[in-house]
Amino acid sequence: MPLDTTSYALPVARTVADLRTQVAQWRKADETIAMVPTMGALHEGHLSLIDVGRQNGATKTIVSIFVNPTQFGPGEDFEAYPRTEPQDAKKLGNLADLIFAPNGAEMYPEGYATTVSVKGVTNTLEGEARPTHFDGVATVVAKLLLACGPDLAVFGEKDYQQLLTIRRMVTDLAIPVKIVGAPILREEDGLAMSSRNVYLTEAERTAAGQLNLILKATADAISNGAAIETACTSAQQKLLDLGFAQVDYLTVRDTVSLAPIAKLDREARILVAAKIGKPRLLDNMPVHLRG
Ligand code: PAJ
Repeated sequence: MPLDTTSYALPVARTVADLRTQVAQWRKADETIAMVPTMGALHEGHLSLIDVGRQNGATKTIVSIFVNPTQFGPGEDFEAYPRTEPQDAKKLGNLADLIFAPNGAEMYPEGYATTVSVKGVTNTLEGEARPTHFDGVATVVAKLLLACGPDLAVFGEKDYQQLLTIRRMVTDLAIPVKIVGAPILREEDGLAMSSRNVYLTEAERTAAGQLNLILKATADAISNGAAIETACTSAQQKLLDLGFAQVDYLTVRDTVSLAPIAKLDREARILVAAKIGKPRLLDNMPVHLRG
């Protein structure tokens, strides 16, 4: 299949072979190539990753769009996950240079039997709530990076544990790519942008806006000496009072290992996952060490 250059303002590769042909041409022209893996339903947060790639030296950007079945657990929203390729392509317009949008069979050919599994950093938080999730993420990201061979790949801090997992995998497997972390892009009220925010009703959306404010206030209190456990418990209660149905975790962790921290004796990260209505919302931010 040749590159599809007619459907959208930018070309689309549907196969690994086509992707590699384009990358090889750019390599000859000495371009610096960034890959931005996504599952589509693009919003400003995704688009900001392209900017971060350029700030890190990219001259060509490939955005992959693939709703990866292996990272969804049973009963999760794989079927319902928004698939909006034409709109996504329009948003990418002239921001990116190529879309890589393979189908399921291209990524997982018949007889597929290989899984990339990262231990340690995946054993907690999202890994507890979604036991097969990070195997799916690591496997597909390894495949995307090997298919493309970019100089750099950009991932959002929005999915902070995912970013750490990918850094670990790339180091462990010596995949020759620089992993760049990008800051969380937020709505005006501070809610982290997410493709799943569309599931929120109006009332839930209003309450969701409080999540980052509560997280920030908790991080500040801890920086200023509040006891971690007490501050986190009180923040969880505030979320439940606001109408969140369930708080899976609201916790302060080591920034690299994600090990629990009882006392703020180093820079740390506060992370939350809480359910309101249909979606589970994620957020995180640094907890700075003062003094
Ligand atoms: P997806 O949820 O589509 O997110 C794609 C990338 O966008 C991820 O790196 C994510 O962290 C980043 N992102 C999402 N919302 C953001 C925000 N508000 N600000 C900054 N970055 C944001 O994450 C995945 O897809 C998949 O797991 C994937 C890595 C593509 C593997 O399938």
